[in-house]
Amino acid sequence: MRLRVGVLASGRGSNLEALIEASKDPLYPARVAVVCANRECPALEIAKNAGIFRRVFPLSSYPDREARDRAMAQLLLEHGVELVVCAGYDAILEKPFIRRFKRRIINIHPSLLPEFAGTMDAVAMALESGVRETGCTVHIVTDDVDAGPILAQRPVEVRPDDTVESLRNRIQAEEHVLLPAVVKALAGRPLPILV
Ligand code: GRF
Repeated sequence: MRLRVGVLASGRGSNLEALIEASKDPLYPARVAVVCANRECPALEIAKNAGIFRRVFPLSSYPDREARDRAMAQLLLEHGVELVVCAGYDAILEKPFIRRFKRRIINIHPSLLPEFAGTMDAVAMALESGVRETGCTVHIVTDDVDAGPILAQRPVEVRPDDTVESLRNRIQAEEHVLLPAVVKALAGRPLPILV
């Protein structure tokens, strides 16, 4: 039985695509069972093309964030999701959602955490700050944004001629290796029981 993964996305979906690609290998121990987005975005098209169930949860359709996250949790559980992957998901998850999937939600962030945490501009901030090295991190999602236990990181050199775009491209190339590797590692060991 392959680990059933639910992906939360808001944007381009290149990390989702990397996971889908990895799971084409029949020996890969996980597969994307469902994709949730908080708005219409290219990631949904990627899910559609791969024949993966997907749904949009716009905040405007719910009384508040908790209600939105409750609906999302219900769908994930209906699809038997055992691991939630935030792959470019740009909304903060509410505490009850995080409790419901305790230690079973991971996020990919484009910096070597704890550097440049809690921002959507981590790549630009790394460039502006003059660091010689940045990278990407996969961590467990807790109530503290970008501060949960780090599972794995990959470094990326900052080059003198880098633009935000060139640096982001190289970081994302590393993300596409890191995320499937972490999901594979998690699939190979017992996860906390969902109650
Ligand atoms: C990634 O760079 C990730 O680190 C950040 O958002 C970006 C998502 O990209 N959290 P994509 O939608 O997977 O292409």
